[in-house]
Amino acid sequence: MSYADFYQQSIQQPEAFWDREASLIDWHKPYTKVLDASRPPFAKWFVDGETNLCYNAVDRWLATQADKPALIAISTETNSEKTYSFADLHREVQRMAASMSALGVKQGDRVLIYMPMVAEAAFAMLACARIGAVHSVVFGGFASKSLATRIDDAKPVLIISADAGMRGGKAVPYKPLLDEAINLAEFKPAKVLIINRGLEAMKLVAGRDVDYASLRALHLDAQVPVTWLESNAMSYVLYTSGTTGKPKGVQRDVGGYAVALASSMKQIFCGNPGETYFATSDIGWVVGHSYIVYGPLIAGMATIMYEGTPIRPDAGIWWSIVEKYKVTRMFSAPTAIRVLKKHPAELMKNYDLSSLKALYLAGEPLDETTSSWISNELGVPIIDNYWQTETGWPIMSVARGVENTATRLGSPGIAMYGYNISIINEANGLECAPNEKGVVAIKGPLPPGCMQTVYGDDQRFVQTYWSNFAHDQLYSTFDWGIKDADGYYFILGRTDDVINVAGHRLGTREIEESISSHAQVSEVAVVGVEDKLKGQVAVAFVILRNPDLATTADSKRALEVEVMAVVDKQLGAVARPSRVHFVTMLPKTRSGKLLRRSIQAICEGRDAGDLTTIEDPTSLQQIMAALAQ
Ligand code: PRX
Repeated sequence: MSYADFYQQSIQQPEAFWDREASLIDWHKPYTKVLDASRPPFAKWFVDGETNLCYNAVDRWLATQADKPALIAISTETNSEKTYSFADLHREVQRMAASMSALGVKQGDRVLIYMPMVAEAAFAMLACARIGAVHSVVFGGFASKSLATRIDDAKPVLIISADAGMRGGKAVPYKPLLDEAINLAEFKPAKVLIINRGLEAMKLVAGRDVDYASLRALHLDAQVPVTWLESNAMSYVLYTSGTTGKPKGVQRDVGGYAVALASSMKQIFCGNPGETYFATSDIGWVVGHSYIVYGPLIAGMATIMYEGTPIRPDAGIWWSIVEKYKVTRMFSAPTAIRVLKKHPAELMKNYDLSSLKALYLAGEPLDETTSSWISNELGVPIIDNYWQTETGWPIMSVARGVENTATRLGSPGIAMYGYNISIINEANGLECAPNEKGVVAIKGPLPPGCMQTVYGDDQRFVQTYWSNFAHDQLYSTFDWGIKDADGYYFILGRTDDVINVAGHRLGTREIEESISSHAQVSEVAVVGVEDKLKGQVAVAFVILRNPDLATTADSKRALEVEVMAVVDKQLGAVARPSRVHFVTMLPKTRSGKLLRRSIQAICEGRDAGDLTTIEDPTSLQQIMAALAQ
């Protein structure tokens, strides 16, 4: 079948299409209805069907490949490497599941996972899936305030964490940040389960904190049956940034997600059982959920969990892993490739990369230079793919499992099956002509695997995503884009206040709120500014309560460091602005709205745009003067 036909069927006859794709997973009880779209924009997939993500990722493979590698945990930080077969993984997941049950976790309970990239993190996610608990993984790079916000929203009965992670040869403590987060949070989890890696001394809170090694030892032979879940039960909540300071809990189902992953692993990532998949992301992000933990395992592949940087001990490390484990499909982000590009390419040539069939890149725009460079060095197709935490799997790419569609430099590809994409003119709500810029929108119902709702807030789901255009069945991605005459899309940045730093999605409002908590800060604006390496960086403009505090270069620098430290402590270094400038006025409209886009334009050396509503144009001169210093 041609991809065009495949795609058309997914749009014209979604039920027949997804009924076929659903046979890629095992069902304990068949569904009675493929799609229930009777309450738009909510969509229910595979109604009444019963299945389980952990069963499909682990148990299903025991019959045919129990002894084949399933999880390969590599840490270049602790110099450790361990391969778990499907049978080993099955055992470890049951030990974790039994331990969680012993701590009182029941079906439907939330379990927050705040962990570095260690095998136990995957055991914990799969154990939750096995017993029907809902995991919420929080990226280890986030600090106490970010964590506290998520604890208060998810209300987890259990938090699983570790003493520390490691990055660049240095221990990164987790436990003290977690303790502080629990102090800050209103909701208090009953239990905290700690994986002690022996990296950092820590204090355990009596009655609350439990050491995993001791608890696991009591459950070595645990047999924990799979809890069969209705397809639309909740599998997890993953928080992501948006326009407001409060992150949204992206809630996902069980059956639809399992089908979307099994399908995308086949049609887009072309993975086969027995092969090895290597995604360099982190379990704290959606790529880690879909394509480190669940997707590859559901496809019967071995998956690599990597703790470390791309350049330690040297920039050949990832390629040595590809050689050693005969990786066939690799998934990374453009920033990582730009980092590698700064190092000698010979490091790549030292390894036999003949197993590698393709490199998939996502999370941020892929520039042509980076794409061409890595394509030449590796000699394999580079496949850009565009999607979001909300969708869980690619919206745009090429589906080489269906047809060998050509890629186009600068474009993340064509519409993936199941996604009825429209580029909408923001001003009149009409569909744009080819090559006309508009908002990337998707006609509902969204395909399987996409978010069900905002956790605990259906109204916010409808309000945020489905109320941006006159047509109420249009989901907004909040990205600008164009479609060319051949159906290839180009992504042109966000329409909202979300920025993308090295592939990490961050909300400028969250950073502003954090900076505002500094006693000397009266007002602040944070914008995303183009950066050659990281794609974007955050830049802050601060008005001080007492401007006399920042008159000399030294006093400015000292305050800048203080402000950065506040962000580090509250949100984590990942959100730290690259520069903090001090001004006495911010560009605003006469009605008091911040002109972020004008600030951003000036930072990037572009024209400030339409300024007819600006209250005081000298505020822009201040921005320019601050940047010139
Ligand atoms: O702005 C788009 C950008 O990243 C956003 C989604 O980020 P996140 O929720 O972290 O999910 C990442 C999943 C890969 C999008 O709204 N983005 C993602 N992929 C691309 C991209 N921008 C351009 N090209 C891409 N391939």
